[in-house]
Amino acid sequence: MLNFTFKNQTEILFGKGQIKKVSDRLPDDARVLLLYGGGSIKKNGIYDQVLTALNGNEVTEFSGVEPNPSYETLIEAVELAREKSVNFILAVGGGSVIDGAKFVAAAVNFDGEPWDILAKGASFYDPLPIGAVLTLPATGSESNGNSVVTKKATSQKLGFSSETVQPQFAVLDPEYTFSLPKKQISNGVVDAFVHVIEQYLTYPVNAPIQDRFAEGILQTLIEEGPKGLANPEDYDVRANIMWSATMALNGLIGRGVPQDWATHMIGHELTALYNLDHAQTLAIVLPALMQVQQEQKKEKILQLGRRVFGLTFTGATEQQAIRETIFAVTQFFEGMGVKTKMSDYDLQGDTLDQAIDRIIDNLDKNGMTKLGEHGDIDLAKTRDILSLAK
Ligand code: NZQ
Ligand code: ZN
Repeated sequence: MLNFTFKNQTEILFGKGQIKKVSDRLPDDARVLLLYGGGSIKKNGIYDQVLTALNGNEVTEFSGVEPNPSYETLIEAVELAREKSVNFILAVGGGSVIDGAKFVAAAVNFDGEPWDILAKGASFYDPLPIGAVLTLPATGSESNGNSVVTKKATSQKLGFSSETVQPQFAVLDPEYTFSLPKKQISNGVVDAFVHVIEQYLTYPVNAPIQDRFAEGILQTLIEEGPKGLANPEDYDVRANIMWSATMALNGLIGRGVPQDWATHMIGHELTALYNLDHAQTLAIVLPALMQVQQEQKKEKILQLGRRVFGLTFTGATEQQAIRETIFAVTQFFEGMGVKTKMSDYDLQGDTLDQAIDRIIDNLDKNGMTKLGEHGDIDLAKTRDILSLAK
């Protein structure tokens, strides 16, 4: 096992009615920026519950944080936060709103061009504290320090990570997910699945605890994901999916083990250029990446096949066993309703080859030229991966 430090500062408030605990967690003189998305919280009643919970505090609202939040929108929230001298941000939504809140929190007291926090890794000071009310289980953003923001002007989707912007608390009420469109449950389950894979499907370092935690989350997603689509108001199923997604990316399973993240980095360019949903990009890239990296990942691919998908590989060669496992992953994504080939999606008039050229150019521009747990996924290999994913 590799050396590691581990701390997760987010207090999880899990279950029905936990929103009531929010007011106790705010500073005494709270001036709250209530950040949310396109309005789903007004239709499903979450907005009213949040306002009731914030009763007695000064609240400034900023709505319209879009999926794959844009720098252009968030910078308006930064200006509003400065103008109103807010001292706390409450993010109510999915990963996009929570990621957006982290960027706003970091940018408010930043003396300079806030995009540099993402583009140049610029240091920032005195970020605002954040709380999260999660409405979409997927990203794990509610209890990690990651934020991914898109600059529309340059088609760049970049991330930064700092525990200083990690939410202090997160409300996880499974009932808040009942109103999700099926597509978002599909996306969420696939995203959480791939988060586990990025931290698990590398090479063995004798870390059986991390492996078995990871396998437990993967198995839970495989079992509960389809039920989540079939029975939208099954509280227990939604609770299991919600907790799986949080556990997938709250830091625990990735400590002391190598991590990959190439699927995410390549996927981000597909979103930046063609506005595909985050999970759709992962479903396209991962099976092809497994194929191209099968030699480096072979022990863990076989472990995934045996332990998670229950494959026996009877009479199969190693190559066939690897292929069977990749097929099982693909079938899981497709079964969840997320397509796995670039040709399944709208590439806005570009041919597949043009799209691959543009993705490669963007990765080059963003310095994503040595990806993966070995740093051996260069642009040529990425081109092989994307060619297989056509
Ligand atoms: O904007 P509203 O109206 O709220 O609608 C949202 C949005 O259209 C809707 N929605 C959310 N909760 C709902 C609901 N609709 C009905 N009922 C509810 N309860 O769902 C749509 C998608 O929301 P979004 O927040 O964009 O989805 P998700 O949580 O998948 O977040 C995706 C973003 O997170 C980033 C992705 O890159 C992407 O930008 N990621 C963040 C990570 C992190 N912080 O660690 C890691 C991930 O790998 C990922 O990169
Ligand atoms: Zn993800």
